[in-house]
Amino acid sequence: MKSLPLKYRPQQLEDLIGQEFIKTTLKNALSAKKIAPAYLFAGPRGTGKTSTARILAKSLNCLAVEQPTVEPCGECSSCRSIERSNAIDVTEIDAASHNGVDNARELIELSHLAPAQVRYKMFLIDEAHGLTTAAQNALLKLLEEPPARTIFILCTTELHKVLPTIVSRCQLFNFKSLSQTAVVEYLSQITATEEIDITPEAIAVISKSGLGSLRDSLQLLSQLQVLQQQITLDTVIEAVGGINSREMWKLMTNLVKEDVLNVLLIARNLIQMGKSPQLILQDLLACHRDLLLVKATQKEGKSLLSSNLEYDRLQQLANKMTWHRIEGNLVQLQKREQQLRFSINSAVWLETGLLNMMDSTSINETQTLENNRQHRTKLHKSTANLGDLWAKIVNSTKSSNQKMLSHASLIGLDRELNFAVLAVEPKYIAKFQKNVTHLSRIITHCLKQQQPIEVIIEEQQ
Ligand SMILES: Nc1ncnc2c1ncn2[C@@H]1O[C@H](COP(=O)(O)OP(=O)(O)O)[C@@H](O)[C@H]1O
Ligand SMILES: [Mg+2]
Ligand SMILES: [Zn+2]
Repeated sequence: MKSLPLKYRPQQLEDLIGQEFIKTTLKNALSAKKIAPAYLFAGPRGTGKTSTARILAKSLNCLAVEQPTVEPCGECSSCRSIERSNAIDVTEIDAASHNGVDNARELIELSHLAPAQVRYKMFLIDEAHGLTTAAQNALLKLLEEPPARTIFILCTTELHKVLPTIVSRCQLFNFKSLSQTAVVEYLSQITATEEIDITPEAIAVISKSGLGSLRDSLQLLSQLQVLQQQITLDTVIEAVGGINSREMWKLMTNLVKEDVLNVLLIARNLIQMGKSPQLILQDLLACHRDLLLVKATQKEGKSLLSSNLEYDRLQQLANKMTWHRIEGNLVQLQKREQQLRFSINSAVWLETGLLNMMDSTSINETQTLENNRQHRTKLHKSTANLGDLWAKIVNSTKSSNQKMLSHASLIGLDRELNFAVLAVEPKYIAKFQKNVTHLSRIITHCLKQQQPIEVIIEEQQ
């Protein structure tokens, strides 16, 4: 079975995904027969440079027509040999590998032979930045006085390493990373054609994991296709070594609940399972980005999601968080990302970041008062000793009250905004709610607050 990147290698300019500018310019050049003696294709890996170089070689040399064409036949001996990289007149040189040209003389000798079978003699030099300085200088000489009917196509992922004098002699094309939307669309088509059983979420994550390289995304899809089973979000995550949706869900729900202890335990556990703090952070970032997306677009943004959580779960989380809180968390994560990159103690920074995401003080700045209500449970749990305080409050009341109060605990308190959050056993919720004014008086009195404390009742988890 052919791998997907091979099977779906674009055969004509028209087949290229993205790279619209390059497509149009080359098509026009071919139609107008304005062929440059040298091209330089620069851009990230897996974006179509080598494919385009081969397409151009076929377009110039296809034997089915008398002249350069935008639609090479793909079947004549010239097209087929270019396809198989064994055309006599189209020399492929990989400057990065051992069989690349490290000898400048070699290059010059090759180029001075007239084409044997076709219209143009061509040199496709891949990873051109890898040419030795001597070879680059020899190449420069060739470009200054290009031999007749000879065309050079240089490809590179590192344009800055190519001699500026060479760059200026070439027609430069910048290949762009492919957008996630473009990759999602393309992979959806391919999985339909190939009848691959895959969920939309899995396609989204595969697309994201390629980081703009269509080859990498296709390659991953190819690997997963071999498994012969439905490809789900978790299949993909497993393959790329990420955090699966179950773990992510656990982490996020506890984070939202501000269960400090559990969050730290889950994070530690993930690290023990071999997930790096960087990876955890990346996945948290992706998840928060998705939360904003879900909040902003609802279902419409579904194809843009890229985290390890399914849409329904994201929506549940998004409902529990305000825009400001998600944004605050994102800022926090971004800050930690920098620190993690340069630190040997990355686990510590991750934990610090997680703690800060559960501490209202860091977010209050960006928060409006209306939003506060939803944030009220996130108060000082980690800092103030609420247990002791609650014991003090309970003890300050009559013994008849004490019995009832023992069914609750104080889980949040903000003396500035004047409210307290009580977690109450489910059975007693109604009773507590009926008595909130009374409760407020007790707490206000015991804490010697000037304004009456507002009491918020929550069900104990
Ligand atoms: N722009 C693109 N359009 C369609 N397919 C692409 C594109 N870029 C990459 N691919 C896929 O990835 C494979 C490798 O692409 P390639 O041209 O070798 O990339 P590069 O030389 O830029 O690293 C191709 O066979 C094709 O399946
Ligand atoms: Mg290439
Ligand atoms: Zn042909």
